[in-house]
Amino acid sequence: MTHPLTIAARKDDHVRLAVEQRRELQARSGFDDVTFIHHALDGIDRSQVDTAVTVADAHWATPLYINAMTGGSVETGRINRELAIAARATGLAIATGSMSAYLRDPGVAQTYQVMRLEYPDGFILANVNATTSVDDARRAVELVAANALQIHLNAAQETVMPEGDRSFAHWRKGIERIVSELEVPVIVKEVGFGLSRQTVESLRSSGVTVADVSGRGGTNFALIENGRRSGADYRYLADWGQSTPACLLDCRQVAGIELLASGGVRTPLDVIRALALGARAAGASGPFLRTLVDEGLAALTTEIETWLDQLAALMTLLGARTPADLTRCDLLISGELRSFCAARGID
Ligand code: FNR
Repeated sequence: MTHPLTIAARKDDHVRLAVEQRRELQARSGFDDVTFIHHALDGIDRSQVDTAVTVADAHWATPLYINAMTGGSVETGRINRELAIAARATGLAIATGSMSAYLRDPGVAQTYQVMRLEYPDGFILANVNATTSVDDARRAVELVAANALQIHLNAAQETVMPEGDRSFAHWRKGIERIVSELEVPVIVKEVGFGLSRQTVESLRSSGVTVADVSGRGGTNFALIENGRRSGADYRYLADWGQSTPACLLDCRQVAGIELLASGGVRTPLDVIRALALGARAAGASGPFLRTLVDEGLAALTTEIETWLDQLAALMTLLGARTPADLTRCDLLISGELRSFCAARGID
């Protein structure tokens, strides 16, 4: 069993390395292969725009959320508190980081609970891994009075982690059990390597109705875990997985499942692109974490407010009264994304 102190150190490493990575992140991403055809007469009035969406049968005022990150150490508890305050100020849904640290050591409960304390009315998602028992999933949900549960799939990350898991075969059964027995909606997510159409079909047949594709292009856990290990080098996995737009195009044909988009969402335009490709909502982790750590809570709140304002502005420009209207916009798919679509037989 991994020692609780080791887990706390890992959580602090993740934050530090993710922020460093974000400071250096290349400006280009798969989202740049998605261009809107500009129709100069399509604009509407700002007052006609309503950004609200339904996710897992819940009403969200905006199609943006703060995705899973952290908890389990003193420092990450402080970060969770400030993320929750920013989410409350802007009305966003927010996820906790993986709660395995709490499931092993209830002593760190406060580092997650603080999110519910700061955001009593918020839509909060608890987060666990796919090896979690139904009882533990329930404990995680109860600790933060979560409105939904995220289960993360991170086999590629585990592979690069020296102390990582090496047995993934039972994950599907575990997910099925949680979905069938838990009282709140379950959202299955990747952590930055993407979900393929086959994976989403398999999740659907396990009873999952919401999936967050969390694709390549943003926070890169192959590089983060590689930065934490000595000896054998896995840097060659830096490009593992599918970009978020590629995942959305690949998965949007799967019936009966709502798609959420995260992984490499850099700007309000990327959110709009994700919605146009069929996502119900788009989430960001790394960008918001970097702002919080480098510039503080007030700067993060202002950044999110700016994003929300610009989301409505872009919908006005594109003539989209609702986020769903964006799926009817004319899009050009180019470059690597176009080749991906051709290879996968996507029109
Ligand atoms: C993450 N992510 C993550 N995901 C998850 O399901 N459970 C977790 O505990 C964590 N931990 C975590 C820590 C840190 C510091 C970061 C930045 C991210 C992954 C996250 O939810 C998301 O899927 C990816 O980060 C891709 O999105 P961005 O960062 O490119 O917006």
